[in-house]
Formats: sequence, structure tokens, C-alpha cells
Amino acid sequence: MLIIGVLASGKGSNLQAIIDNIASGKLNARIGCVISDNTDAFALERAKKAQIPAYHIPYKNTLMPECEIEYIECLKKHNVELVCLAGFMRIIKPTLLNAFKNRIINIHPALLPAFPGLHAQKQAYDYGVKVTGATVHFVDEGMDTGRIILQRTVEVKKDDTEETLSERILGVEHQIYSEAIKLFADKQIK
Ligand code: GRF
Repeated sequence: MLIIGVLASGKGSNLQAIIDNIASGKLNARIGCVISDNTDAFALERAKKAQIPAYHIPYKNTLMPECEIEYIECLKKHNVELVCLAGFMRIIKPTLLNAFKNRIINIHPALLPAFPGLHAQKQAYDYGVKVTGATVHFVDEGMDTGRIILQRTVEVKKDDTEETLSERILGVEHQIYSEAIKLFADKQIK
């Protein structure tokens, strides 16, 4: 069974969707550990509640590779094969990328390559696009630039606010992240 590690900085609703999809049998995988750079991340509470080893590991904002060593040690200790970034607000550096080569994926709340970076939903809403969506992609050294695994569209409705649009996008994220992990588990992507 594929062992995944989840890195999250915030509320962790994508983590929760993965936990739920594993519990219901939709996704045949196991979460080896959850790591957050933020001691207050609700994602850590969700992990503990699901009896998943949960760690707060500070991520120093430095170009030195040291800041990722503890992450790598922790992921390896739990035999993680695929690292899933779920609202992890850091740019992954070469140390971690090389330790898990082509085995780090991310979820982004827009149809990449449109609207990379922060506040993607707001960027799309303000631009006035009629269709946006969510993307699961491999992580490389750039900001949301890695190869695309899965995308799903979300239509922008006339009466949408940034909040209602973001909510629908999040619902789609919760579906496609587990689908992408399943593709990896089934060796349909590598
Ligand atoms: C999601 O919108 C994800 O696409 C982005 O950060 C948000 C995290 O939400 N990268 P959550 O912590 O999973 O609820």
C-alpha cells in the first residue's frame, strides 16, 4: 500500500478529504505522517484525531538546505513514498526535491499555468474569467510550475463572490487530490 506524507500549514481540509477517502475505501493508501511548519495548524489536530503521527517542524526561511533536513528525516522514518503538499506555504528547495525526486505533488486552486502563486481564486475572480478550477501537479523548483497530473474546471457564476467561488473550488480540490494520489498508487503516473 502506498504510504504518503502530508505537509500542511493551515486548516487542512484537503488533508481531511484524504483521510476520509482512505477511511471510506475510495483511496487505497496510508498516511505515514503529517508535518506542519505552523505550530497552530488545524491540520495537526485533524491528524492526531485520525491517529496519524503529527509533527510541527519549523521551516526556516533560509536558502540553506538545513531547513529541510528534519523534514526529510521524518518522512523517511515513516517510510513515505509520496509527499503531498496540502496548503503548505513554502517553496520546496532542492534538498527535499532531490530526496523525493518526482515524488512530491501539490494542489493549486486554479487552472495552471493561469494564476500561480498566492490567492489564486481572487486572481481569477478579479480577472473576470468565466471558468477556473483546480490543478494537481508535480512540484519542481518553480512556483506552481511542475508537470500537471489532473485538472478540473469550476464555472464562475454571475452571482459568485470570491468566497462562494473559492468554496466550490475547494470542493473540487477535495475530489481530485485523492484521484491523483490514486493514479500514483496504481502506477498510472510516475
Ligand atoms: C487550498 O486551496 C490549496 O489549493 C492551497 O491552499 C489551500 C489549503 O486549504 N494550496 P486546506 O488547508 O487544505 O483547507
